[in-house]
Amino acid sequence: MVSIGIDLGMLNTVVAKVNDKGEVSIHQFEGSDLLPSVIHVESTAGYRYVGRRSRNFLADPDIDPSEIFRRWKMSMATGTVLATQDWGNGPIDITPELLTTWLVEHIMKDITVDLGGETLDSVVVTVPHGWCRDHVEKCLATREAVRAAQVDGRTCEMKRSDHTLGNKTVVRIVDESIAAAAYALNASSDAAAFVGKNMLVFNIGGGTTDLCLVRVGAPSEPLTVIDTINNNIGGDYATALLLGKHLAAIGSQFDIDVPPTPEAVLAELEGAEEGWLREAFAAAETELLHKLSTRVEEIEYLDDFAEKLAGKWGQRLLLMSSTVDRNDDPIVTFMSCSEYLTRLEPFFESTRGILARFLSRGEGSERFPYAILMTGGGSRIGGLRNRVIEPVVSELAGPTKAPEILGRFEKLRFNDSRLSTTAVAVGAALVAAGRFYIEPFSAERSQGWPGSAQ
Ligand SMILES: Nc1ncnc2c1ncn2[C@@H]1O[C@H](COP(=O)(O)OP(=O)(O)OP(=O)(O)O)[C@@H](O)[C@H]1O
Ligand SMILES: [Mg+2]
Repeated sequence: MVSIGIDLGMLNTVVAKVNDKGEVSIHQFEGSDLLPSVIHVESTAGYRYVGRRSRNFLADPDIDPSEIFRRWKMSMATGTVLATQDWGNGPIDITPELLTTWLVEHIMKDITVDLGGETLDSVVVTVPHGWCRDHVEKCLATREAVRAAQVDGRTCEMKRSDHTLGNKTVVRIVDESIAAAAYALNASSDAAAFVGKNMLVFNIGGGTTDLCLVRVGAPSEPLTVIDTINNNIGGDYATALLLGKHLAAIGSQFDIDVPPTPEAVLAELEGAEEGWLREAFAAAETELLHKLSTRVEEIEYLDDFAEKLAGKWGQRLLLMSSTVDRNDDPIVTFMSCSEYLTRLEPFFESTRGILARFLSRGEGSERFPYAILMTGGGSRIGGLRNRVIEPVVSELAGPTKAPEILGRFEKLRFNDSRLSTTAVAVGAALVAAGRFYIEPFSAERSQGWPGSAQ
């Protein structure tokens, strides 16, 4: 018996498995923990490509962007039709729900090959906390879309016992922050110390930052979210800020309009944007955001961070390049760690604001959580500790108490950055395997609350 957890992300999806020995693993998609949440649907015959190959098409200015679907998560349950295609049997509306079903079908096919005859017992899919609270319709639409996924002509929730999906595979929807907290408790060497305490789950995704305070009860008690705050600023905004420098260079060399602000960059990426902009955004993300993050992270925990930044380390340049017209030479932009931190300041400022507002709500000793778990790909953005967490905690706790509070951030640093992107999926798989109890909210249970197994 195998249980799986699916962290359906706006940009990337992660799948974790727990086998009957209780062993946890991350399913590998073409050798990677991450399955890009991108689907290319070829419009004449409806051939579908899911994941990395479609994501690579995004950076290809020659591909028709109207055949590539991504970032559909936020428009779940809004009645959106993203495109209509006709493959010879009449028009098909491509909706966020249908794309979710296709993504899950791809996952299920990949997984059942790996199961080698073992049955899939339970599937837990995670959704943002805000959906569980304010958008139950999005939770329900996600659950229905997952249930509709077909493998070998049968839906995900199987009734047949002869199939690898099992005779009663249960599909449940769970809050991302609860899943992350379950993961942290499982990974901590001292889970008992968390009983009766609050854990702050700090989740920075592609398009959102979600802070949730999760209460840890006794082992038989459910994990519950007791407070939450979120905004629509995530790693994409950080990428758009860095891209600004490159766009200025493009604007001055070519006679084309470049989006003037990070907001305009993100708005254009949502629409049928120019191929060169897709290419440039992808390069800014991998060549500047990820690489400079890694460099900054290497020194961020050192006492002489400021000196290192001002010195040779901080000044060393990394480059990104992209083309506007395939026939022209690439445009190259250089950036140092110190310029990276300066350009990201609006991102840091907004993140400081949301953290300060959240921590200010608590009273006295309750103000600061017992532990803090950084999760989501965006939590790997270099500079978060130095430019966000340290200044906010120092300001709110005062200089005497700040070091002890900051030490709590170390409690759940598991020294492996891979974990920040896989925590939610692992936690979801642990919930699927019954290792953590998640209580459906009683008020919604009667309306088919998605936390309840039906
Ligand atoms: N190594 C890294 N360094 C810096 N940033 C990173 C790194 N890896 C991923 N990111 C950033 O994290 C963001 C994506 O995070 P994640 O994969 O958690 O999003 P998601 O789960 O798909 O989105 P959401 O949670 O909003 O649905 C992107 O902006 C990406 O650039
Ligand atoms: Mg996510």
